[in-house]
Amino acid sequence: MKYNFDKIINRKGTDCIKWDCNKERFGDDHLLPMWIADMDFQTPKFFLDAIKKKIDGGVLGYGCRPARWGNAVTKWFKEEYGWEIRCSQIGFVPGIVVGICHALRCFTKKGDRVLIQPPVYYPFKNQILAAGCKVVNNPLKLVTKKDKSCNTIVYDFEIDWEDFEKKIKGCKCFILCNPHNPGGRVWSRSELKKMASICLKYKVLVLSDEIHCDLSFSKHIPFATVNKQQGQNTITFHAPSKTFNCAGLCASEWVAENLDIHTKFSEYLSAGEFASGHTLSFMPAPELYTNKGREWLKQAKKYIWDNIIFTEKYLKENFTKGNQQLVSMVQPHASFLIFLNFRALEISQQELVDIILKKAHLALNDGITFGPGGEGFMRLNVGCPRSVLEKALKSIKKALKNYL
Ligand SMILES: Cc1ncc(COP(=O)(O)O)c(C=O)c1O
Repeated sequence: MKYNFDKIINRKGTDCIKWDCNKERFGDDHLLPMWIADMDFQTPKFFLDAIKKKIDGGVLGYGCRPARWGNAVTKWFKEEYGWEIRCSQIGFVPGIVVGICHALRCFTKKGDRVLIQPPVYYPFKNQILAAGCKVVNNPLKLVTKKDKSCNTIVYDFEIDWEDFEKKIKGCKCFILCNPHNPGGRVWSRSELKKMASICLKYKVLVLSDEIHCDLSFSKHIPFATVNKQQGQNTITFHAPSKTFNCAGLCASEWVAENLDIHTKFSEYLSAGEFASGHTLSFMPAPELYTNKGREWLKQAKKYIWDNIIFTEKYLKENFTKGNQQLVSMVQPHASFLIFLNFRALEISQQELVDIILKKAHLALNDGITFGPGGEGFMRLNVGCPRSVLEKALKSIKKALKNYL
């Protein structure tokens, strides 16, 4: 079956954050929203049909976790990543931020230090602070690389290893974003191994957020699989939410191979009833971690990748002045989020935000919210029909006409 990702679905008035909360979030209800990380594509139709069937059962009472949920999750990890885990090593959480929030409360005490790698998904910092811990930043380095295929310069993020080792000493936890958001960096095996050896050396528990991994365009390696010891020192968070555009169902999973860690976290979650899903929560995994889901995902990834290439080409063709590209991007290796680089314009962050909001009439994520290193950037969500993406890029071009 061929899925149609060009189809425009009117989400306005459906109580969704992306389209219905722009007034309170950005002060303007008439922006084209390309910020929060869900996609404007239809959630797989076969899955919507399964939900309808369930609702037609007529009673929305308490749900429970069926065995097929655990079987689907473990089978997916094995088939997609060669990661063999048992059902007894996984757990449910109603969202990854929620999961990280609880893991921090369960495994740290007030005043403990937790390392992150900004610019990074901003709820990490918020959750560390909310748990009473201290944020330790290991900022990523923005590097330029030569893209051999088109002989141009592309941006990417890399780890500052000296700083990583210096800063992680004395930390209790490290929240790894694998793949990274924003920037879409898929960490290589050697990078993950190096991180693991340093975390093991200093006994730092790793919370690995792998929510974007199924949308990787290059090989994703679950952090817990780099070696057996690291498998014992990691809680991995994963979900069908980004992969299959069903974030509103609040259904995520976590994996801890270490029995003590698993028991401690499970008991903590059960005590507060934090791991109870709603009546539809256990549906995504068994329905979507399947061959049908795989086929939808294959087509969605191809469409997203073409959107990324479209954006890259548009920026090169429309934002170049002399031999300088005034708006460029970090080339994502995963997912549908593009970190746009406006630094060559040499304007303040406030000016940049104003141009995007008031002249381009777009709702994008301000790069600065991702922490140090986000200055001069805005995050663009390209999980949308190409016609919408083209409209957004044209709006940016029009808004920047005085600079081009
Ligand atoms: C890296 C990362 N983790 C977690 C989330 C949110 O996950 P959830 O909705 O399950 O809390 C996002 C959403 O953008 C994300 O990019």
